[in-house]
Amino acid sequence: MSHSRIVVLISGSGSNMQALVEACRAEVVPGAVVAVGADRDCSGLQRARDLGIETFLMSPKEWPDRDAWSEALRDEVACHQPDLVVSAGFMRILAPVFVDGFSGRLINLHPSLLPDFPGAHAVRDALEAGVRVTGSTVHYVDHLVDHGPILLQEKVEVHDGDTEDTLHARIKEAEHRLLPQACKLVLEA
Ligand code: GRF
Repeated sequence: MSHSRIVVLISGSGSNMQALVEACRAEVVPGAVVAVGADRDCSGLQRARDLGIETFLMSPKEWPDRDAWSEALRDEVACHQPDLVVSAGFMRILAPVFVDGFSGRLINLHPSLLPDFPGAHAVRDALEAGVRVTGSTVHYVDHLVDHGPILLQEKVEVHDGDTEDTLHARIKEAEHRLLPQACKLVLEA
């Protein structure tokens, strides 16, 4: 089995990054996570280090503007020679200069059934809309936010009494299955 190189971008706890690392190590996904990058000092960075993975932190405030940061991020990710770049809870919009650098090998994980509820508050927005079913989507990234060809989706039921936290926790359980499957699909295509 060939081992593709995967770079994961995070901003949060990194539970999806860990699920992907474990799926790679179990050889469910034909690749290895070679680096984890973040835009802030989040707990997921420590989780990655505990897993023995190289990390990098690039906070936009250390660059003069968003374009300069996006180019620097592209260059840093490119240094790791990825076959696949995964945005897994990375809470920044990826600029065209970044997206174009990884065309056909950049995917994003989003906690709703796109095209419903794009944006940073997908779980809250689904609850407020009163839908009975939401879920998660893995899609290729294009120049629009939470947009691009869909790879995989999984439905998650909304329960009576759900809060944003309880619903998001159930969505994450689905995501921990979905993201490795999607990476496998891309890498085996
Ligand atoms: C996931 O629900 C992802 O869909 C969203 O942010 C969350 C990241 O969670 N964009 P984690 O950091 O992987 O635990």
